[in-house]
Amino acid sequence: MPTGPNILLIISGGIAAYKVLEVIRRLRDRDFNIRAILTKGGAQFVTPLSVSALTENKVYQDLFSLTDEAEMGHIRLSREADLVLVAPASADILAKMATGQAGDLATTALLATDKPVMIAPAMNVEMWNHPATQANIATLESRGVIRVGPSAGDLACGEVGSGRLAEPAEIIASVLDFLEAQNAPKPLAGKTAVVTSGPTHEPIDPVRYIANRSSGKQGHAIAEALSDAGAAVTLVSGPVTLPDPAGVKVVRVETAREMLASVQDALPADIAICAAAVADWRSADEAGQKLKKDRSGEIPDLKLSENPDILATISKAGPTRPGLVIGFAAETENVIDHARAKRARKGCDWILANDVAPETGTFGGDDNEICLISGDDENSDERWERQSKTGVARALSARIIKHFS
Ligand code: C5P
Repeated sequence: MPTGPNILLIISGGIAAYKVLEVIRRLRDRDFNIRAILTKGGAQFVTPLSVSALTENKVYQDLFSLTDEAEMGHIRLSREADLVLVAPASADILAKMATGQAGDLATTALLATDKPVMIAPAMNVEMWNHPATQANIATLESRGVIRVGPSAGDLACGEVGSGRLAEPAEIIASVLDFLEAQNAPKPLAGKTAVVTSGPTHEPIDPVRYIANRSSGKQGHAIAEALSDAGAAVTLVSGPVTLPDPAGVKVVRVETAREMLASVQDALPADIAICAAAVADWRSADEAGQKLKKDRSGEIPDLKLSENPDILATISKAGPTRPGLVIGFAAETENVIDHARAKRARKGCDWILANDVAPETGTFGGDDNEICLISGDDENSDERWERQSKTGVARALSARIIKHFS
């Protein structure tokens, strides 16, 4: 009996199915225990015999097989795996997964499983780019399904573009990375965190709003890093185009006032991180109807009123104040001085100062350069090298772990 992790491999229809035989071989070399389900479509491309010979296990094909059900019910089959891997994942099985269909053994197992699911899509480029497939992928990813590939290149159908099954080595690397992360220690287990992210939209009338260029990349990355470290994370996000981070509870809001209310709902929490670029002002009198362009050419006066400061409010939240409150200070000049003053003014514990002058490309970009300010003494400032926003998120998570230990 293999001693490695258990994988339930679902092979759906596609010419790329032959490449999955190589994935099986390499995982078997690592002593993985692989049980395979071969869909009707999959069986057109690889034989049950070759899959069975390579997995050294029985191959499951039929939902209503009396012998299979007696030996290993489909629910058990879906629950005994550490990971369910769908490779290749055809457009058809992705659509069925997205809509929760259960018409055969593969889709039933996918609906019944309580285990993480990884997909390796493979299909024609137009099928991959079709809005229906892209919507299905977005739905699946928002539910925490992990995706590897597809890659771009020559396709079996003779066309060129995105839709090639990821190479076996890439699929195996994703499986190993995932299992390693699963088994990694969870130093923030038992801790709760609330993270704000993205911009806010402040309506002027039903069609117009005040906004800013925040992408939400930094806040989302922080939520994911804390969750990876074991914290139970609520991410309160303004309007962004990013997928929801895996394993995180996401609350979507539009305005600063909604954001504050959702953050307060998430309290008490051990950690609060305000990474959102909250609009400082909103329209003082939001119009119920679309403002009309005045024929006389008169321009409406836009009166503003101040939004609540979420960071300052929760820093002074009395008994529900989180033990560690962290804010950002996005500055374009005198970054450290302004950030230190902001830390004192808002009453938070740490401020992550970053330069968002247009030439840095930080706002909306992928990288960030941080100085962590945790006290009045500048000797305690920690300057982190310029790195990706994911890198910053991991560094912050590591620093929080150190703080609590
Ligand atoms: O906009 P400002 O520079 O004051 O933002 C500093 C910090 O305060 C950031 O962490 C931001 O998320 C937070 N903030 C907030 N609510 C506001 C304005 C800012 O939570 N209304």
